[in-house]
Amino acid sequence: MALSSPSRSDAAIRRAVQQLAPGAWDFADADTKDWTHGYHSYPAMMIPPVARSLIALIQHHQPAMRTLFDPFMGSGTSLVEGLLAGMSVHGSDLNPLSRLITQAKTTAWDPERLEVLAQHVFMTAKYATVTPDDWPHFDHMTFWFKPRVIDDLVRIKRAIHTVVPPSWQPFFWVAFSDTVRWVSNSRNAEFKLYRLDPARLARWNPDVLETFAKIVQRNQIGNAALAARRPLPSVTLYGHNAMHLADIADETFDLMVTSPPYGDSRTTVAYGQFSRLSLQWLDLAEADNALPVNKLDQALLGGVAVPQLDHALPSPTLTASLAFIAQQDTGRAREVLAFYRDLDHALKEIARVMRPGSYQCWVVGNRTVKQVQLATDQIITELSVPYGVIPVVHYTRTIPNKRMPRANSPTNRAGATGATMTGEQIVILRKA
Ligand SMILES: C[S@@+](CC[C@H](N)C(=O)[O-])C[C@H]1O[C@@H](n2cnc3c(N)ncnc32)[C@H](O)[C@@H]1O
Repeated sequence: MALSSPSRSDAAIRRAVQQLAPGAWDFADADTKDWTHGYHSYPAMMIPPVARSLIALIQHHQPAMRTLFDPFMGSGTSLVEGLLAGMSVHGSDLNPLSRLITQAKTTAWDPERLEVLAQHVFMTAKYATVTPDDWPHFDHMTFWFKPRVIDDLVRIKRAIHTVVPPSWQPFFWVAFSDTVRWVSNSRNAEFKLYRLDPARLARWNPDVLETFAKIVQRNQIGNAALAARRPLPSVTLYGHNAMHLADIADETFDLMVTSPPYGDSRTTVAYGQFSRLSLQWLDLAEADNALPVNKLDQALLGGVAVPQLDHALPSPTLTASLAFIAQQDTGRAREVLAFYRDLDHALKEIARVMRPGSYQCWVVGNRTVKQVQLATDQIITELSVPYGVIPVVHYTRTIPNKRMPRANSPTNRAGATGATMTGEQIVILRKA
């Protein structure tokens, strides 16, 4: 299906964004946990109203759009919003935990059946007998979990396996995974894995079964809202590297809405580390034929260093920023280059799978390295041009409630001063 008069809709979209009232897209008071959005924490989640507003804006000007794609879907925010907007949704992420969470969040489970299964799981878990012989085996297990907590997690896991049919299990595994994180000895307010300090650890005595039951019940409320919207359009999930979208045919999707990582996992958000405890309990890696948990962060954008600073990436903004960083620290400059080298591969692949005339909405955070603010919004725009993708409009929103790495030093774009990382950049591009 051809999308109609793109250059006319470019102008209309640009006008609509430029005429937004100040702060219109800040969403300071928005409910970010409505529908199924509150199922599971995830680092650097997109605020649902941002995805909702972008989809509504583009849909208004391109009503024939049918398919939405998110190549870095994380916890699936844009896919849930795409479904609610009546689009078939396709998402991909290398993190198996992302795929589990997104699968659960984009499925409308029958609420009555779910309630019966939930009660059955709670009862089965409560009365199960467990000995240390039943414990799973992974490194540092007793460092991260108290023995009584391990017993209870084994009870829940066994109950899910025993009473829930496999096709219904993702709903319960997501609640289990969120429980794992909350009852572990890690500091829950943080996405990196840090153990509680000794005094807090000594007092730490979580009620595992109750935590799990509360999470299941909370998620049942979200599910009931989504289920009221049945029948939903189709959902397709992939575990592709965004640099190689493998079996996805050229010119498949009508709209992309995504938030890519800010930088490599080591120096920004460690998605693998965040997911590790859950993945060790879930056996997902084996089931999914996925990467081993400890290899995940290296496989994400920027995970493998570049040997030298030479590059041919067609972004003057990137080149200037790298020169500035390299004056202070060539090692850091190489790490930064590795991330943008990989992002460039992803931009090429994404351009390939998008239809001519389709829009791409990028929601990005511009991080700071060595006092240089890396204008990822601008770099994405510049790198996309050789792939036949043109800029439509740019918007900066302030971030009232999104958890993200704090700028740890004064921020500059190369050669300029004064910008701070209190804003999130939204870039809308279109494939010519
Ligand atoms: C900022 S998060 C996305 C958050 C998402 N918008 C949400 O609301 O939850 C970025 C995601 O990109 C994924 N990612 C990073 N590098 C990737 C790659 N090369 N291929 C596929 N996914 C990748 C990470 O696993 C992470 O889930």
